[in-house]
Amino acid sequence: MAQQKLRSSNWFGKKGKDGFIYRAWMKNQGVPADFFEGKPVIGICNTWSELTPCNGHLRDLAEAVKKGVLEAGGFPVEFPVMSLGETLIKPTAMLYRNLASMDVEESIRANPVDGVVLLCGCDKTTPSLVMGACSVNIPALVISGGPMLKGHWKGKHIGTSDVWRFDVMHKLGQITAAEFLDAEACMARTPGHCAVMGTASTMATMVEALGLSLPNNAAIPAADARRKVISQLSGRRIVEMVKEDLTLSKVLTRKAFENAIMINAAIGGSTNFVIHLLAIAGRIGVDLTIDDFDKYSQKVPLLANIQPSGENYMEDLYYAGGLPAVMKEMENILNKDVITVNGKTLEENFNAAETCCNRDIVSTMEKPFKPDSGIVVVKGNLAPNGAVIKPSAATPALLQHTGKAVVFENIEDYHTRIDDPALEIDATAVMVLKNVGPKGYPGMAEVGNMALPKKLLEQGVTDMVRISDGRMSGTGFGTVVLHVSPEAAAGGTLALVQNGDLITLDAENRSLHLHVEDAEIDRRRAAWKQTEKVHARGYVHLYQMHVEQAHLGADMDFLRGGSGSEVTRDSH
Ligand code: FES
Ligand code: MG
Repeated sequence: MAQQKLRSSNWFGKKGKDGFIYRAWMKNQGVPADFFEGKPVIGICNTWSELTPCNGHLRDLAEAVKKGVLEAGGFPVEFPVMSLGETLIKPTAMLYRNLASMDVEESIRANPVDGVVLLCGCDKTTPSLVMGACSVNIPALVISGGPMLKGHWKGKHIGTSDVWRFDVMHKLGQITAAEFLDAEACMARTPGHCAVMGTASTMATMVEALGLSLPNNAAIPAADARRKVISQLSGRRIVEMVKEDLTLSKVLTRKAFENAIMINAAIGGSTNFVIHLLAIAGRIGVDLTIDDFDKYSQKVPLLANIQPSGENYMEDLYYAGGLPAVMKEMENILNKDVITVNGKTLEENFNAAETCCNRDIVSTMEKPFKPDSGIVVVKGNLAPNGAVIKPSAATPALLQHTGKAVVFENIEDYHTRIDDPALEIDATAVMVLKNVGPKGYPGMAEVGNMALPKKLLEQGVTDMVRISDGRMSGTGFGTVVLHVSPEAAAGGTLALVQNGDLITLDAENRSLHLHVEDAEIDRRRAAWKQTEKVHARGYVHLYQMHVEQAHLGADMDFLRGGSGSEVTRDSH
């Protein structure tokens, strides 16, 4: 293969003053000239941060990547980008996903890198890196930080999905405050991201399903030595990818996106997958719609028995054969001929892998754990552009349900009234939460799986239909309708729901209906006023002015597509 001119030679290969400046300051880091001149320069885009605990070990992985890059004759340069920790960032890390993606895009384009390794882990760090890199479209691959090992507490395994259970048990006095505290430390006991199929593991799976990582990236635990091995091998491989000019758009074809949707269904991935995959498709220019998620999920049952849809943990998936074992089961439905970052097809990759060695973790297509999986998209007058629900994490009997709305105008209203003994609510009610969407919260927080009223929990109620324009944690569960579009703060019908209105969720028939006459809806719409704060300055202003609705991926309208990798002007 004829070697094309390296992008980085537009910096380091320059003559005169410009070349002097580009090279001289690299040399102050103790780098001999022949170390970077004429060699593929590999950026290691690192979301390491002590404020993103799930990514706290990524400096170690970067060292392994560097070894691989050097072995293959490249020059590794590690650089930081905005890191989004799911647990600490207020009001929600999602508010900043698009901002981080802008940081990534501009950092890659503006610098002399020929290829880039994206190091990510916690939920939003993966989509923001992939989105940003797509808008530049140079050779890139992803290394995920890997899941934590499962927690051990009082003789049981625990993980993030237990947080929601512990909260209820604590409220009901079934565990003490001391036990609650003890469980914290027992759960998060190793490096890595959430140990269940939450959004982080869903994203790690997504990149492997898209062909953006080496095989087995999804499930190798952070604490397993093989996480460093895959990092080193990825470092070697990205240098080859530069030589082959294997850019992101060659991997991220429409067929690859279809695979990602099918695989997400098979593993019981997070609803957040919908938003992030749509945003990534928008950046790389693949025409993907929210309806594709329903369409391609349809024929896929739940194959991986991992929480929250199942019982086990990501490490169990790895020991059972990892994601390749799941893909192997799906060989009759996947687009097998798509190219992946290692230069091989998806089929070549999963055929080279071990077969499943534990049918309690990865089932066959013939005898799946659950027949229905994936994402169901419901539409109707309450969500003209769609809303999503994950049947594998819901109560089957509630997937077809009509009930009276109990409305919360915003999250503060919910917190104030939910445990008020006077709240008129029973188990048949439909809980409606407004103004937690992209513009409304702002940032579309993970509050859609509202905890049930204490008085109903005490009666033994475990699930109710809940509807909002927000998201839910990928570790959450319940009969929860999310991402209602248009959102309340954009004047969607959701904003017009009143206490006592009847609502029907009919997942089977893909419908979400508000039983109010059109004329009455029009009357309410004419009287509707924006109640949520509109920010007048800063990034949040930019976000509220430009964020698109959930059914489009909640990216900013001006960030769709890409601007390529070329920069024609020099800095001096
Ligand atoms: Fe970071 Fe779950 S909080 S992955
Ligand atoms: Mg989350």
